Amino acid sequence: MRMYDLIIKTREGQELSRDEVRFMVQGYTEGQIPDYQMAAWCMAVYFRGLSAETTAELTMAMVDSGETLTWPELGSEVVDKHSTGGVGDKTTLVLVPWVAATGVTVAKMSGRGLGHTGGTLDKLSAIPGFRSELSRTEFIRAVQRVGLAVVGQTGNLVPADKKLYALRDVTATVDSIPLIASSIMSKKIAAGASRIVLDVKVGGGAFMQEVSSAQLLAETMVDIGAKTNRCTVALVTNMDQPLGYAVGNALEVQEAIATLRGQGPADLTELCLALGAEMLTQAGKSDSPKEGRQLLLEVMAEGLPIRKFRELIGIQGGNPAVVDNPKLLPAAPVTKEVFAAQSAYVTKIQARRIGLIAMDLGAGRERIEDEIDLAAGLEILVKVGDRVRQGQSIARIHGPTAIAVKRAFEEVQSAIQFSQAPVAPMPLILARVSR
Ligand code: URA
Repeated sequence: MRMYDLIIKTREGQELSRDEVRFMVQGYTEGQIPDYQMAAWCMAVYFRGLSAETTAELTMAMVDSGETLTWPELGSEVVDKHSTGGVGDKTTLVLVPWVAATGVTVAKMSGRGLGHTGGTLDKLSAIPGFRSELSRTEFIRAVQRVGLAVVGQTGNLVPADKKLYALRDVTATVDSIPLIASSIMSKKIAAGASRIVLDVKVGGGAFMQEVSSAQLLAETMVDIGAKTNRCTVALVTNMDQPLGYAVGNALEVQEAIATLRGQGPADLTELCLALGAEMLTQAGKSDSPKEGRQLLLEVMAEGLPIRKFRELIGIQGGNPAVVDNPKLLPAAPVTKEVFAAQSAYVTKIQARRIGLIAMDLGAGRERIEDEIDLAAGLEILVKVGDRVRQGQSIARIHGPTAIAVKRAFEEVQSAIQFSQAPVAPMPLILARVSR
C-alpha cells in the first residue's frame, strides 16, 4: 500500500477501506508517512470531504493509535458532555454537579483554553487548592465517594490526533467537518465515554460561523456515534454573544456558583437544563429529556446542586468555602465600568472580540505554554435585544493594571453595538440532532 495512492483516491472522491485508513493513521503516527503527504491528504479531504463510513473508520483508527480508558470500577456507563468551545462557556462547572445531584455518576475529563475560548480546567484552577491532575486511582476514588470528578486528560490518548491537529493548524485544514468530527469523537471515545452529549456552538464566538455547517458537524458526530456504538446526541446552540455574563476564570466560577443556587443568567441556566436533561436521558435516569428537565428542577429546588459542587471542590483538594465566600477567589486589582452612551437596544455583542479582549487582559492564553491571570476578565451585563438607558452600566472590566483596563475599556465600547429600533432576542438552542 502507498500513501500516494490514498491521496489520489481521496482527491478523486473515492472511499478508503478500513485497512487503508489504518495504514495511513498508523503510518503517520509512527513517522513512516511524512507530514507533506499527510498534509496533501488533509487538503484533499478539505475539498472533497469523506464518506460517513470512512469518517467513522478514521475516528476508530485514531482511537486505536494510543491508550484507551475504560471505567469498570465505576460500575456504570460513563456519560460525557463536550462543547466545541465558546466565550463564557462555563456549562461544565454547572452541569457536572447539577447532573450528579440527581444521582447520575459524572466522571469528566476536560481541557485547558486556547485563544478566545476558555477551558474548564483553567476555570477550576481559580478555586484555591483545587487539583485537576489526579492519578487514575484518585480519580476513581473521588467518583466512587461523591459521584463526580473533573480532571485533565491522563495517559497517551489519541496521539494520532495530537500530531494531525498540529499539522492541520499550519496547513489551513482545521475547518474541515469530517476532520473536526473525527478529532473530537476520537478523544471522547478513547476517554471511555459510551454515551455522549455534544454542544455544537455556532456564531461569531464559535468555530462554526453558519448554522448549516454546525448542523452538518453535529450530524457527522452523531453519525460517528451510531457507527461506533456510542449513543450520541447533539444540540446546536448559539454563540453569537457570550454565554452568561462573565468571561474570565474566577468570574466564571462565581457565575457558576450563582447558577447552581438557581440565581444564574437565564441563558446559562437554560442551556444547562437542556444539556443536563439529555445527559439524564442517556444515563437512563429519565425516560425523556422532558422528564430529565423536571428532575433537574426538582433537585435545584432542594438545593442539591450547590452541595454537590462543595463536595466536588472538597474531594479534589480545593477550599469549599469559596461557594459561600467569593472573596476567597482571586480578584483583580483594577476594575472599571462601561456605561451606555445613549438609550437604545443592544443589536450585537461581538463574542469573538470579547473573548480576545479577555485574553488580552490575561484571562486566556495565546500559546499553550502561556500563564494566565485567574482574576482577569469581563462581565458583559447586557444581552442582544435588551433596552438600555443612557448611563446604565453595560460591562465591567477586571484587569491587572490601569493601562490594560483602559485598553479593554475602549475595545469593549466598540464590541457592543446599539440601534434605536427594537431587536428580537436571539434563540439559544437552534437544533437537536440524534439518531
Ligand atoms: N476541536 C478538536 O478537538 N478538534 C478539531 O479538529 C477542532 C476542534
